[in-house]
Amino acid sequence: MASFLKGFFGGAAARRVEVRPFGACFDVPSGQTVLESALAHNVPFPHNCTVGTCGSCKSRLVCGRVKAITDFGYTLSRQELEAGYILACQAVPRDELTVVEVESTGRDLPAHERFTGNISAAEALTHDIVRVTVELDRPLRYVAGQYANVRSPNVVRPRCYSFADAPDRNGRKAVNFMIRRVPGGGFTDALFSGRLEGVRLEIEAPLGSFFLRTSAHPMICVAGGSGLAPLLSILEDARRMNVRRRCAVLFGARTTGDLYALDRLRDIQAAWLGGCEFIPVLSAEPAQSGWTGCRGMVTEFVASALPDADWSQVEGYLCGPPGMVDAAIDVLTGLGTGLGSIHYDKFTDESHVAAQI
Ligand code: FES
Repeated sequence: MASFLKGFFGGAAARRVEVRPFGACFDVPSGQTVLESALAHNVPFPHNCTVGTCGSCKSRLVCGRVKAITDFGYTLSRQELEAGYILACQAVPRDELTVVEVESTGRDLPAHERFTGNISAAEALTHDIVRVTVELDRPLRYVAGQYANVRSPNVVRPRCYSFADAPDRNGRKAVNFMIRRVPGGGFTDALFSGRLEGVRLEIEAPLGSFFLRTSAHPMICVAGGSGLAPLLSILEDARRMNVRRRCAVLFGARTTGDLYALDRLRDIQAAWLGGCEFIPVLSAEPAQSGWTGCRGMVTEFVASALPDADWSQVEGYLCGPPGMVDAAIDVLTGLGTGLGSIHYDKFTDESHVAAQI
C-alpha cells in the first residue's frame, strides 16, 4: 500500500536508464530527468540550457516511455518528434527500462574544462551585435563550431556563446565571441554597459557537437543573426584545411545594418575549393533602399542556393534563432535531405529561456 501511494503521488521507485553509445546504465530517482541523472553519474551527455530550449540534449528514444516536463515540440521539429527524438533535460522516465541514444559524433572532441578570463576588447559589429575578445588564463583547444558557457559573478545563469574564429591547433588564449544584445537580459545588459570590463569571467569549454562532418557531399549553411559565429569558425577552418566540396552560405538579417563579417565571408568564398555561393537575405530592408540582393525569409532561398543538387546527398548546417532553424529543417527535409544529415545549433537567448520557464 505504501509503495502504491508513493507511486501515485510521484514518489515511485527508481527507473533504469541506458544511454547509448556510452553504455552507461543507472537508476533515475523519481522525478529526476534523464539528463540530471546522467550527469550525476558522470555520463558526458551533451547539454546546455537544461530548460528545453537549445536542443543540445536531443537524443533518440530507443525503448521505454518518458513524460515531457515541457513540450518537446517547443524545440524539436515535427520530423524529429516523429523519428522518436526527445529532450533528455525535459524527459522523466515512465517505464522500468528506458534506452536513449545520443548521436555518435564519430570523432574525439576535446574534454571540456574550466577557465577564467577577462574581456580585453569589444567591437560593435552592428547596433546590437558586438565581438567580444576574452583573454583566458591558458590556451583553450576547441573544434570549429563548438561553444563555451560563460558566467559572470553577478549573473545567475551562464550564457553560451560559440567561438567565432577557426581554432588553433595549439589552443587559443584569446577567444572571440559574437554576442547579441537581449534587452532586459542580465548578462548582455552588463556587457553592453561596460560593467563586465575587468570582471573575472568563468568559462566552461569546449562544448557542443555542432561541427563539420567529414564528407565530400555538398553542404548548405544557413545563419541568422549572431548564429553566423560558429559557421564562420567552421568555414574558415574548412578552408584552411583545403576541404573541397560544393557549398552555399545563406545569411539572413533584417536590414543592411544588421549584416556583418561580409569581408570574412567573401574571403572564404573566394578561396573555397569546390565552389561557394554566398547569399545574404534581408527580411525587412526598406523597399526604397538601394539593396538589390535577395529579400524575404532566408529559408525561402534554400532550394535555389544549390541548383540541381541531389538533396538526399546534401548536408545542412543551421545556426540561428529557433524559428529560423525549424523552418530550415522543414525546407531541407521537404527537399529530401535526411534528418541525420542536418546539424543545427539553436541560438536561444535570455528571451527564449524566459518564455519557457
Ligand atoms: S539542454 Fe536540453 S534542450 Fe537545452
